[in-house]
Amino acid sequence: MSVRCILQPDSAEGVFRMSTQHSEARTQISIGTLRRMKKEGEKFACLTAYDATFARVLDAAGVELILVGDSLGMVIQGHDSTIPVTVDDVIYHSRAVARGCRRALLMADMPFMSFASSQRAFDNAARLMGEGLAHMIKLEGGAAQVETVRLLADQGVPVCAHMGLRPQTVFRLGGYKVQGREKEAARAMLEDARKLEAAGAEVLRLGCVPSALGREITQTLAIPVIGIGAGPHCDGQILVLHDMLGITPGKPLRFTRNFLAGADGVGAAVADFVRAVKAEEFPAPEHCFN
Ligand code: KIV
Repeated sequence: MSVRCILQPDSAEGVFRMSTQHSEARTQISIGTLRRMKKEGEKFACLTAYDATFARVLDAAGVELILVGDSLGMVIQGHDSTIPVTVDDVIYHSRAVARGCRRALLMADMPFMSFASSQRAFDNAARLMGEGLAHMIKLEGGAAQVETVRLLADQGVPVCAHMGLRPQTVFRLGGYKVQGREKEAARAMLEDARKLEAAGAEVLRLGCVPSALGREITQTLAIPVIGIGAGPHCDGQILVLHDMLGITPGKPLRFTRNFLAGADGVGAAVADFVRAVKAEEFPAPEHCFN
């Protein structure tokens, strides 16, 4: 444990006060860390968070990546889709999460239509990192986003491409359905993933696909692949915090597990999630799709 002296701006302009900050010597997770873990076959654990208190719990429990997802529209704001979420909403929550986050990599979601053109994506990504304090951004899309991903990557914005089930297309899909089951759709998804990696995406987040496709994409790409309902072979696993605590109303989704059931509090539940991912006990066959 070390004690650092830091200067903090006080309310009166130009006045600074000294404060001490106790911090444990903990290494900040980077995209390079996730790449190394992929190479070495060590699984990593990711969860969503939307405020500083939960971020602190997740960070202390060893979660490697925290996502301020647009799922906040459903679990925080009570909407029935992610569509109404705005860039300002994500910035507000990301700033809060950043205050609780010492070690984990902080990823912020680009909401619906916030990357509808490359210029818009660039302006909003700059806000998510500059104002939202995110380390990287995530955007939904396949081949259609290749040029946007290239522009962001060329400008030094770390990008996570989000493939498989894309909740921002829910009204086009007519529901939340497993993707890539047909041979042609699976082939197209693999091809798109390759293109996004070549364009500069540094991480891929893959949702609700058959485990065999999850394995093929994970093994084909050099970049780390984070799965949710994409089988046990992905390099990392992610869940929505409220789902893994079993507090999301309604029937639990197949790919989630309630880690709070039987645990000695929220911190222990999150630590058990991290352990289960690393031990490759989660996801089990009952959480996966064929
Ligand atoms: O947007 C989000 O919150 C997500 C979760 C479902 C993992 O991608």
